Amino acid sequence: MSRVYNFSAGPAALPFEVLDRIKGDLFDWQGTGMSVMEVSHRGKEFVQLAARAEKNLRDLLSIPDNYSVLFLQGGATMQMAMVPLNLTAPGDTADYVVTGSWGKKAASEAAKFCNVRLAADASNSGFTHIPDESDWTRSDIAAYLHYTPNETIAGVEFDYIPGGDAPLVADMSSNILSQPIDVSRFGVIYAGAQKNIGPAGLTLVIVKNELLDRARPNNPHLMTWKSYAESDSMTNTPPTFAWYVADLVFRWLQEQGGVQAMSEINDRKSGKLYSAIDASEFYSNPVAADCRSRMNVPFLLANAELDARFLEESHAAGLTNLKGHRSVGGMRASIYNAVSEEAVDALIGFMDEFARKYA
Ligand SMILES: Cc1ncc(COP(=O)(O)O)c(C=O)c1O
Repeated sequence: MSRVYNFSAGPAALPFEVLDRIKGDLFDWQGTGMSVMEVSHRGKEFVQLAARAEKNLRDLLSIPDNYSVLFLQGGATMQMAMVPLNLTAPGDTADYVVTGSWGKKAASEAAKFCNVRLAADASNSGFTHIPDESDWTRSDIAAYLHYTPNETIAGVEFDYIPGGDAPLVADMSSNILSQPIDVSRFGVIYAGAQKNIGPAGLTLVIVKNELLDRARPNNPHLMTWKSYAESDSMTNTPPTFAWYVADLVFRWLQEQGGVQAMSEINDRKSGKLYSAIDASEFYSNPVAADCRSRMNVPFLLANAELDARFLEESHAAGLTNLKGHRSVGGMRASIYNAVSEEAVDALIGFMDEFARKYA
């Protein structure tokens, strides 16, 4: 068996221990004589798994009791439509803070359903900073304020939770479970699973119960958070395999010491990678120091003509998926929870060697 160091932005690396457990479970899960993919989601074993996954997630993030935890499908992108469909009536206003491509996409999707105002927009700077919160222009009548705590493409992450009276809606796809968060400050948190939670196909929504009654009455059933909240997320057949893996990932996180321990490891991993980039004249990162992402580290080579060679040689050295998003170019190392410190050390070692060879 040969495993690589995988820096993919998503679907992303999963913990080895989780993959190993899946392998062991595959043909006979919990003595059922079947894989978890072959059992009914309404059977005793799966219902127990679902309840355990929810409980463990609640413990990991200290989710208050007045919040529902929903396990659904459609990815974070479907939530970009579900958010306005569940929180506004036609003609209502919603504020969006755009600090990267995903926030921009969320705003344009919501504009199909409600009146979207950009309270702040960092697109002019090429998404390299977060506009000062005191400069945001918020609407007094906004049904909610949407932002993206971590922009996966630009590598821009908030190190604080915005204030204000409107319910806060956060697309936490790429930094959920990377650090402790005060869930009570949010109205809604959503996240596609394929970075820090498990495989693609599962989407998490954490929603304050008092917001569940704002959904448009003619929403499709599957586009209504309340339907999931009232059916333990069994509104229809859920993504059972992805849910099973998420349960294993939550248990793995607990074994690592929870999100506080992960946060310390993530600080160390990203800190040493940014230090290596900043110390070199060969590599650079354009993002303002106070909002650099701890999960996605984009970097440019001084000579873009060497990009293809960097990718080729890093791949040959067992370091994969380092190509930056096409909209920013260069490289990007996504270093989610399951990417070990050893992988980051190997990347730094490779970068150093490559710079010495070609500078
Ligand atoms: C912050 C953020 N939001 C949304 C998405 C889109 O997620 P999905 O493909 O699950 O719809 C991504 C995807 O990679 C992301 O990083």
